[in-house]
This record gives sequence, structure tokens and C-alpha cells, in this order.
Amino acid sequence: MMTHVTQSSLTNLLPTRVSDDNGLAQDVMQGLSQTPKKLSSRFFYDAKGSQLFQQIMELPEYYLTKLEHQILSQQRKEILYSIDIQKPFQLVDLGAGDAYKTKLLLSELMASKADFSYVPLDISDDQLNLLLEDMHHRWPTLLVQALAAEYFQGLEWLNQNQRQRKVVLFLGSNIGNFDLPDAKNFLCALRETLNPEDAFLLGLDLRKDPEKIRRAYDDAAGVTSAFNINLLHRINKELKADFDLDQFQHFAEYDPLEGTMRSFLISKKAQEVHIGTLNQTFHFDAWEAIHTENSYKFSLKQVEEMAHSCGFKVQDVFTDKTHGFADVLLRPVSN
Ligand code: AVI
Repeated sequence: MMTHVTQSSLTNLLPTRVSDDNGLAQDVMQGLSQTPKKLSSRFFYDAKGSQLFQQIMELPEYYLTKLEHQILSQQRKEILYSIDIQKPFQLVDLGAGDAYKTKLLLSELMASKADFSYVPLDISDDQLNLLLEDMHHRWPTLLVQALAAEYFQGLEWLNQNQRQRKVVLFLGSNIGNFDLPDAKNFLCALRETLNPEDAFLLGLDLRKDPEKIRRAYDDAAGVTSAFNINLLHRINKELKADFDLDQFQHFAEYDPLEGTMRSFLISKKAQEVHIGTLNQTFHFDAWEAIHTENSYKFSLKQVEEMAHSCGFKVQDVFTDKTHGFADVLLRPVSN
């Protein structure tokens, strides 16, 4: 099931949910049965987690949003020129969130009277509902069709809607949360859904001072810690589990060899956790880690290689003054 929303009436503003089974039970069963233990970062984003992520984006240490905002606000004219907004298109926003950065492009597009519709896709219905209301109030004439879906379900949607020209956005270094092989698979699968006149704007966090990166994922106010621990709270709520949240701590470390920022939840003591829905009890040793997230940092060379190997050409690279973040405009190479 997908939500199709035209925005003239607020009562219609419900995102289309692609599937009701969010896969949490299966992920928890698999992830906590293996060594080392693992939980998927895609389950961070319930209503509370999405709200905490909004707070993360405003933290002084979390430079990613600020750098990408700087790129999109200072270079939006050049970016839209490079995309070519003269012909009609659908603007597909993968992992839209609150569309904080996309709004910079949207306001420019609205001002230039471009012929386009907006298709935000997000895993969180709550987030999409807020976004739809915001869009309705800001730009009542903008045609919006919201999709509550995972990225791969978004790809299916793209596959089924191939006739209209597409401009796909994947901002915020969301691609960094995939493992590297999955990032490449995703890029290649996305390429298959696109035609030569389509465009793909990909936002990536670049390699930089390892200390700066680490601090962005271990902020002084403890918001990232709360965001990580909220995953256990979600499992308590949705899967009738009894995680004692005070007995787990957030830990984040950056590997400059691989460019991987890794986040963990560490069990502060030996303990058993029962998960009612799974009818399972899991044992945690003292100081045992659950790996909860990778946030990969790229080099531009690596991005180019990955793009080429999937049949994209790099049309333009937009970076901030410090070269800390890049928005790369990719075009499918004609077969
Ligand atoms: C959504 N994603 C790109 C964020 C990141 O930087 O990996 C999620 C996040 N995790 C901790 N802080 C922010």
C-alpha cells in the first residue's frame, strides 16, 4: 500500500504506507542471536527517535546538516541549473525527514515557477504527517505525494512510475548508513530505475579530522546517546521487552582506515533481557556490545568509482568551503 497525496485538502494528507510489518521483530531476533550482537539503525526512527534526530541536527557538534545546508543555500541556483528544471519532473526525496534542506530547493523551484511535483519518502509516518502539514501551509499549490516506505520500496515505486522525468534526492549522507557493499547495490538498483534524462543528487559526508567526526556522534549534551538508547525503549514498547535502559550505555568510535563511524550500545553488567513477543530471553555479558549503526565517511574518489561502476557519470560536485561534505549530481550514462 502506498499513500498518494494531493495537497489541496488537509484531510487527505495521509502518507501511503507500503507495508505494515516493519520487520523489527525479525531484525531483533536475528541481531541478538548472533555474535557480535547487532540491531539495525533503520529502527531508530519511531516518533521519539525522529524527534531526537531533529535535535541531533541542531547540535553544535553535528556538522553534517550545517555543511549541506550551506551548500544547498549558497549553490542552489547552480544545482538547479545543472539538473535542468525547464522540463517537467517529479522531485523524489528519499528519506525526506523534515525536508529542512530540500525546502531550500523547493523555494527556489516555486519562485521560478518550475513544472514539478514533490514526492517525499520516509520510513516514519509521523514525520511525513508533519511534513505534509508544513508543505500545505507553505506552498498550498505544490502537488505532494507522500510515501511511507523503506528506501528499497521507494525504488519499486520509481520502477513503476518510469514515464515521468525524475530528479531523485538522497541527501544528508543517508547512504552512509548502509554497509559499503549495500551502498553500491543501492546505487546500482537506483540506476536501473532511471532514464538518461533523469538526475540524481547524492549528499555525502566526506573524510576529515577523525576527532571532529567522533564528536558529532558523541555530543556533550547526550542527545545522540538518548537517540541510540531509544532503540531499546522502542523494543520494550513494541516487542514487550524488559531492557533496563540505565544498564546500557552509548559508545561511538571512528575508524579512519575504513572511514566508518560506528555506534554501539554497551551492556554495563551481565544481564538477561526477556522479549515477550519473541518468547525469548537473551543473555548479555558485562561490557558486551550491540552494534547499532555505521555512518560511513567517503572520499570523492571512492564516490566517483562507485558511481561509474553503477552506470552513472558525475556531472557536478558541489562542496562547502572546508570540503567536509559534498552534494554530487549524477546522471545515468545511456546504455
Ligand atoms: C541519518 N544519518 C545520516 C545520521 C548519520 O549521521 O549517520 C544518523 C545519525 N546517527 C547518529 N547521529 C546521526
